[in-house]
Parts: sequence; structure tokens; C-alpha cells
Amino acid sequence: MPTWNDKYLLGHAAIDRQHRDLIENIGSLQQALDKSTNRETLKKSAEKLLTCSLGHFNSEEFLMEQGEFPEKNEHIKEHELFVNRISHLKTACETGEEADGGEISSFLDRWLKTHILRTDRALVEYLLQKSKVLL
Ligand SMILES: [Fe+2]
Ligand SMILES: [Fe+2]
Repeated sequence: MPTWNDKYLLGHAAIDRQHRDLIENIGSLQQALDKSTNRETLKKSAEKLLTCSLGHFNSEEFLMEQGEFPEKNEHIKEHELFVNRISHLKTACETGEEADGGEISSFLDRWLKTHILRTDRALVEYLLQKSKVLL
């Protein structure tokens, strides 16, 4: 289960703060998936992660728009994939459909490594570089 680790610090105060929250919510959902918690609790956990990630993705997308980030579209696609996976889990909880908890949990682990540590890092580096040029 992921917990906050300073390796996730990218150097942008707002993004780092939101990532802390996001990682905490990812951890709670993975815990719920591991323990094969009842559907209602699992659904609540998925909803919480969904709300937190949507807010966070909106602020990153705003920064990308504002900073004219060239890799914006590819970055947004990764956000959409995340939202789709978690929305699907939430729907599965509602309809009683089987969800592969282990698979979702490893998707989340992979996402932390590839999205936060690579995709978001590239965005933050770009934004910091850009703000230096503007100063
Ligand atoms: Fe992102
Ligand atoms: Fe992010």
C-alpha cells in the first residue's frame, strides 16, 4: 500500500499538497480492495478517490492550459484513463458486477510510478522552467 514518501515531492507546492491527499486516498482504496470490504464501503472509498482526483486533475489541467504545456493532450489522456478505471469500479459496486481488486490495485501502483513520477514531474519541470524565464 503506498504511503506518502518524499520521493513524490516535485517542487510545486499546490501539486505536492494535492498529491499527498491523492496518495492517501489511493492507499485507502487499496486497503478496501485487499480486505474485500463490503460493496458499500468500497464504493465510498472509490467515490472519495474520484472526487479528490477530479479536483486535482482540474488544477493540473488549468496550469497546463495557462502555461501552454506542449504535452497537454497526452497528459490529459492519462488522467482520463484513471478516472475511467475508478468510475468503472464505482459502477461495479453499484451493479454487483465482479471487479478484479488485485488488478485495480496494481493499476494504481503503476499509475503512481508512471504518472506522478514521470508525467507530472515533466509538467512541474516545465512550469518551473517557464516561471524562471518569466522572472
Ligand atoms: Fe497529472
Ligand atoms: Fe498529479
